[in-house]
Amino acid sequence: MATVLPYDDDQGGKKAQVRQMFDNIAGTYDPLNRVLSFGIDQGWRKKLIARVRKHAPASVIDIATGTGDLAVAVAQATPAQVVGLDLSPNMLQVGKGKVAAKHLQNRVEMVVGDSEALPYPDACFDAATVAFGVRNFEDLPKGLAEIRRVLKPGGKLWVLEFGRPANPLVRWGYNFYSFTLLPFVGKLVSKDARAYSYLPESVRAFPSGSAFTSVMEQVGFKSPTFRPLTFGICMLYEGSV
Ligand SMILES: C[S@@+](CC[C@H](N)C(=O)[O-])C[C@H]1O[C@@H](n2cnc3c(N)ncnc32)[C@H](O)[C@@H]1O
Repeated sequence: MATVLPYDDDQGGKKAQVRQMFDNIAGTYDPLNRVLSFGIDQGWRKKLIARVRKHAPASVIDIATGTGDLAVAVAQATPAQVVGLDLSPNMLQVGKGKVAAKHLQNRVEMVVGDSEALPYPDACFDAATVAFGVRNFEDLPKGLAEIRRVLKPGGKLWVLEFGRPANPLVRWGYNFYSFTLLPFVGKLVSKDARAYSYLPESVRAFPSGSAFTSVMEQVGFKSPTFRPLTFGICMLYEGSV
């Protein structure tokens, strides 16, 4: 798998660059996300939440929580105690504001941390979620193995990540949008010249569908599955411990 970096090679490793990039764009991340995805990402999150509700976990860790949308949604949809963990303090700062605004401070804890070295003992969460985070991990197998380590036996992992549409017409439209319009608007609004061109480049280089479930399987998740959403623009992955 080719490593796509947000910035130049001489600006540290992928992890440091990813943290820097999300710290840079934290202030505009939410509004840009809604506009650039036409709000479709909300529907994808709802599909994941429906799966979490069905499993009814008592504790959930939302890895790469960013500004905390999924952590808050899990807390609103279930009685679970939720940890939202992310590398970027600025993204978490926005998330903490949301948690406070919804009076969820006693149910949602926002923690600075690295998915590849989770600050938790083995087998302490019932479920884990990751939305649009795994693509940014520096070491994907290590990050997934760490998530597996902190899940209890029978625990569940759900992942949302961009995929590659199979239909050639949809793929053409999606590529046109994500390699031209998206970087243009993203650069204009976020003031980070690279963040929104890194996005499609990193999606293209990332394992999708069965290539991703193979990595889940390699690190010990049982019977991983995937479900394409919106013509495969997004994938919902599920695995058990
Ligand atoms: C595209 S954002 C997604 C945020 C949020 N989950 C959402 O759905 O809007 C990706 C997030 O992954 C975080 N991230 C990337 N690598 C990480 C790692 N190794 N550990 C923890 N967070 C990480 C970034 O800091 C960023 O906030």
